[in-house]
Amino acid sequence: MTKNKFYVTTPIYYVNDNPHIGHAYTTILADVLARFHRGMGDDVFFLTGLDEHGQKVQQAAEKRALTPQAHCDDLAPRFSGLWEKLEISHDDFIRTTEPRHVKVVQAVLQAVYEKGDIYQKEYEGLYSVAEERFITEKEAESGQFRDVRRIQEKNWFFRMSRYQERLVRYIEEHPGFIRPEHRKNEMLGFLRQPLSDLCISRPKTRLNWGIEIPFDRDYVTYVWFDALINYITAPGYLADNARFGHWWPVSVHLIGKDILTTHCVYWTTMLFALDLPLPETIFAHGWWLIAESKMSKSVGNVVNPLDLVGQYGVDAVRYYLMAEMVLGADSNFTPENFIKRYNSDLANDFGNLLNRVSGLIGKYFDSVVPAALELSADDTVIMGQGAALGGRVEALLKEYKVDAAINEIMNLVRAVNKYMEVQAPWKLAKTDLPAAGRVLYVATEALRLAAVLLGAVMPEKSGQVLDVLGARGTGLAWGGLKSGTRLTAHPPLFPRIETDPSRAAGSSVKGAGA
Ligand code: ME8
Ligand code: MG
Repeated sequence: MTKNKFYVTTPIYYVNDNPHIGHAYTTILADVLARFHRGMGDDVFFLTGLDEHGQKVQQAAEKRALTPQAHCDDLAPRFSGLWEKLEISHDDFIRTTEPRHVKVVQAVLQAVYEKGDIYQKEYEGLYSVAEERFITEKEAESGQFRDVRRIQEKNWFFRMSRYQERLVRYIEEHPGFIRPEHRKNEMLGFLRQPLSDLCISRPKTRLNWGIEIPFDRDYVTYVWFDALINYITAPGYLADNARFGHWWPVSVHLIGKDILTTHCVYWTTMLFALDLPLPETIFAHGWWLIAESKMSKSVGNVVNPLDLVGQYGVDAVRYYLMAEMVLGADSNFTPENFIKRYNSDLANDFGNLLNRVSGLIGKYFDSVVPAALELSADDTVIMGQGAALGGRVEALLKEYKVDAAINEIMNLVRAVNKYMEVQAPWKLAKTDLPAAGRVLYVATEALRLAAVLLGAVMPEKSGQVLDVLGARGTGLAWGGLKSGTRLTAHPPLFPRIETDPSRAAGSSVKGAGA
């Protein structure tokens, strides 16, 4: 049987400042999906990287009195270093200043030009430097765009308008193409207005930090036209046809809702012009907000993921970000929320279940996993829920509902904690030791399943649980935990965060701007 392929991307982030939890969120989301698909035996290619050209980056470099390249080289490790700390398992890290990418961008420009889809004209319009794109008067009036200036100049244009109808038809005929559903409707609404052609050049007299247009050396390429191409550069477009043919089209582009139009309209029409298939899915998530406004590098109201990781560990941060943001909606980041979820889900529910079963198996069974012979009706309920969990989680993850998938897993954990209270194996142990053993087997086996499924979200902690249970590498069928296995000792998985300052100094999360 041939393996399924799964090619997942994150946006390539601007190197205008340090990454914050918004960038961490998209990247962790991609990582969870990549890990999950690898776990299912799929062939996975996970791409992330950096968007290094354009006015924004040039300005950031100027502020630091560095050349743009020196600025990029200095900032790039802050991203790749963060991904290492966050246990991101990407297969490639692309930077748009790399020769492999510059070559492809220039070849694409030349091909689209020769096809007749690029032409020159005089243009006057409003430009948002923060968003790095021309905006309409109407958009400018909305007040949602920062750093807007009027620009008049001769430029090169991509005949995007030519593909408008074809794009609308494509979106309508492919229901899973733009997700979630309300984002698809937003794009269809946008496409009800006539689509203008896309200005894809910048005169070097105004901006020289970009990829030179191959047929006009007075211009550099517009940063979005350059950046989007990264998604085909990395899997080998024009460099390795077999490899490119294997990976393209991409399974999913994960993006924030801020860059929906550039992906759903600019990128897709570029692909039409190149006669390449469109992405299977473009998935746009909501924003992390701080006190109701978007967390943003340019605004500066950011939470540094490294501070959180330093205090609470990488898996707690991964878990929080994945569990907290509901598919498609915005989420407010507050330290209080973080601590609340950590204490309830990780310390009380998940961590505590491990403590309970390992403590009781230690006390009554000399740390050896007991046997479970005939299951009672209550045991069977847990077994049924556990055995069905893998399929449910898989179905939810295929719909990109990571928060819902995590909730399913935690529902099992909570059900098992309740089951333990009802069955009270510590009481049973005094009158009916085999019955206590049976209950502990069922509870521990359910914990094992939860740990296996949480592996994509919390690779480290889930591995620790499986090591305690001697069950690393076990699958999703009920019965993977072997009676007779000796449990190993372990420190508490997720020590409770004490929020009473008089009891624990220095245990609060640093908030916005700290
Ligand atoms: O747009 N909440 O780069 P960028 C959630 N270079 N996600 C957030 C976020 C927030 N508050 N802030 C940022 C660019 N993100 C272009 C992309 S792709 C060919 C070029 C995440 O540095 C989210 O994924 O502004 C968003 O789409 C992305 O970072 C924007 O990063
Ligand atoms: Mg941005």
